[in-house]
Amino acid sequence: MKNILFIVGSLREGSFNYQMAEQAEQVLAEKAKVSYLDWSQVPMFNQDLETPVLPAVQAVRDAVEAADAIWIFSPVYNFSIPGSIKNLLDWLSRAKDLSDTTGVSVFQDKVTTVSLVANGGTDQTAEIYRNLLPFIRTNFVDEVTTSRVNDSAWADGQFVAEQETLEQLNKQADALLAALAD
Ligand SMILES: Cc1cc2nc3c(=O)[nH]c(=O)nc-3n(C[C@H](O)[C@H](O)[C@H](O)COP(=O)(O)O)c2cc1C
Repeated sequence: MKNILFIVGSLREGSFNYQMAEQAEQVLAEKAKVSYLDWSQVPMFNQDLETPVLPAVQAVRDAVEAADAIWIFSPVYNFSIPGSIKNLLDWLSRAKDLSDTTGVSVFQDKVTTVSLVANGGTDQTAEIYRNLLPFIRTNFVDEVTTSRVNDSAWADGQFVAEQETLEQLNKQADALLAALAD
């Protein structure tokens, strides 16, 4: 089975994007092995911190390198990518060997895809990922699932995916697995 690494772009306990990732995990059950990236210790990017490679940075690089594909679950902040997840992607986009900054990163040709849970700005943020992920040389699977936050979730914390969302998640999972079979 292929290894799919989930990157949940919210560190918030009870994150709706984390709950969406759990739905995707169920969709992938029996089809792929899923793990979640712990990126909570990655510092703010600073070129002065690149060498020697920090343990927290090495850990996320190793996890990405070991995965067959990456599935990002992202909130929308101010109609854009949250700075925290952009920071992580910036770290991971850097060349493994900095003697040539144009060299390969752990993202080189990695199959990636994105889902978003938010109420406003999902289209704009999906468009940013559509540009960013190929730019950092990943093999982007454009079957983006977007979901609104159900009204009751703001009160009880429980994200409930609509049927249409679950259908699109299934389609996205199939497209991701098909990209890995190529
Ligand atoms: C700085 C900030 C900006 C936000 N901007 C948006 C936005 O543009 N659109 C939106 O639908 N929600 C916005 N939200 C609300 C988030 O969608 C909400 O906090 C959501 O719970 C974040 O996802 P999570 O549950 O996975 O953490 C914003 C939240 C924060 C903290």
